[in-house]
Amino acid sequence: MENDIQEILLTEEQIQQRIRELGEELTKEYEGKDPVIVGVLKGVVVFYADMIRQIKVPCQMDFMWISSYAGTCSTGKMDVKRDVSVDLKGRHVLILEDIYDTGNSLDFTYKHLMSKEPASLKICTLLDKPSGRKPGITLQADYVGFTIPSAFVVGYGLDFDEHYRNLPYVGVLKPEAYEK
Ligand code: IMP
Ligand code: MG
Repeated sequence: MENDIQEILLTEEQIQQRIRELGEELTKEYEGKDPVIVGVLKGVVVFYADMIRQIKVPCQMDFMWISSYAGTCSTGKMDVKRDVSVDLKGRHVLILEDIYDTGNSLDFTYKHLMSKEPASLKICTLLDKPSGRKPGITLQADYVGFTIPSAFVVGYGLDFDEHYRNLPYVGVLKPEAYEK
């Protein structure tokens, strides 16, 4: 698995340090607001587990599962496979995402959750890849862990064909690994 990585883009230490910084900002933002923190499955799971422990206010956890994304290029077609279970009406909601690339999934998630009439809706993404953005998507993430170049990355929850999610760092996959 590690042999398929061309370059480590973000080390475990860099990720954890940035999560502590984001945690301080989010703790201030959500003090006294009892937010619902919504993770978008599955890529966010590792980030979610680390991030939520740095948001030091009472909060609720929830998850959405949307599809689909085949191989390395987004299909642009989205579907809710599993919706949130908490009633979001009048609640302060924070979306946690692994990566903001074309924007198809965040745009879809944002509109879907907005329709539930939250008191506020903000976005925190671990990675932002602005070069991948689809024209017409103007949504901005309120909190960004790292802005990264256009390479396809894996690890720390991110996959290629459902593999590499368990790498503790974010790395760029070797081109040969796509052909396996
Ligand atoms: P979108 O293109 O912004 O809609 O991103 C949709 C989803 O594609 C993300 O939540 C990730 O799960 C996945 N994705 C986008 N870029 C990458 C990447 O570089 N590596 C792994 N997964 C990615
Ligand atoms: Mg994802």
